[in-house]
Amino acid sequence: MGQRKRIGILTSGGDCAGLNAAIRAVVRCARTYDWEVWGISQATQGLMERPPKALLLSIDDVDRTLTMGGTILGTTNKGDPFAFKMPDGRVCDRSQDIINGYHQLGLDALIGIGGDGSLAILHRIATEGNIPFIGIPKTIDNDVGITERSIGFDTAVNIATEALDRLHFTAASHNRVMVLEVMGRDAGHIALNAGIAGGAHVIVIPEIPYRLQNICKTIQGRQQRGQHYSIVIVSEAVCTENGEHITKMQQFGECRLGGIGQYLADKIGDCTGAETRVTVLGHTQRGGISSPLDRLLASSFGVAAVEAIARGEFDRMVTWQHREVITVPIEEAIKTYCAVDPNDTLVTTARGLGICLGD
Ligand code: F6P
Repeated sequence: MGQRKRIGILTSGGDCAGLNAAIRAVVRCARTYDWEVWGISQATQGLMERPPKALLLSIDDVDRTLTMGGTILGTTNKGDPFAFKMPDGRVCDRSQDIINGYHQLGLDALIGIGGDGSLAILHRIATEGNIPFIGIPKTIDNDVGITERSIGFDTAVNIATEALDRLHFTAASHNRVMVLEVMGRDAGHIALNAGIAGGAHVIVIPEIPYRLQNICKTIQGRQQRGQHYSIVIVSEAVCTENGEHITKMQQFGECRLGGIGQYLADKIGDCTGAETRVTVLGHTQRGGISSPLDRLLASSFGVAAVEAIARGEFDRMVTWQHREVITVPIEEAIKTYCAVDPNDTLVTTARGLGICLGD
């Protein structure tokens, strides 16, 4: 130590609220060691470019970024560098280009902020390229293993909860069943957390198989008690009754989850006679001002990542466990997918509140 280090930082995968707070924390903490922080542009793509695309980040560069959504570095959730689709259609392994880009920048360590997929890719590149690497978990899906929380999740839950708060009044005024479809990929954390916090009557998540008749029974029970409106929240990866995911083809041949809200609303309408409407929250869950909890988490993770580098601790991910930030082997984190445990406290809470989980 003692020598002025150069730390690289990148954000990879889908954006979420709190990324800039983490970048800011890394820059500010590195400053206490008099180290430089280089912000790499557009995830690993910045390291593939020649010259590699990176900017020296000063404290002033991150001055007003604490609350800012998105990522000042840019990101991508496409293009596995080990099977990278070239403009001419060829598929190439570009991992060595990334490793070379890292070394061209003369960096001493790399901090990668990503979800499970990005962290697995970065870990592999770091291992192959002998790059001292520290991971910071982020994702609104909250599905990264070993950490109780990832950056972005709390803000997404707040947004989904606020949507439910709003839907209650309009649903009650019109005697409608409102179905809110939320993101989360294969994990139902957003739906479960927001569903409880936002007073949903039905919560449907991929981890708990549902039967349509159970959902309709809950809605009909409310109708019989004179409650002619109901609120349903459903995770995007919930399947149809035949066990199929509903997906939508996006641009560039990308296939994305989406549509289960409409499917359920149609079925509920047919079965109960209720008028139904669907709200798909989509990317609003990833944008906007980050919640105080996400700012705290991101700030703690950023500081912990720099402190780990100062201790010479690498190949680890910072995590939140039992009100404490610690580091764990990144290998452990990426091999453990964190879906909702059907015996989770919040599942018990939902059942105790009489919320229908569809089973
Ligand atoms: O992983 C985060 C996430 O927002 C998922 O919840 C969602 O399924 C996916 O990314 C959407 O990806 P895109 O931004 O490519 O549409």
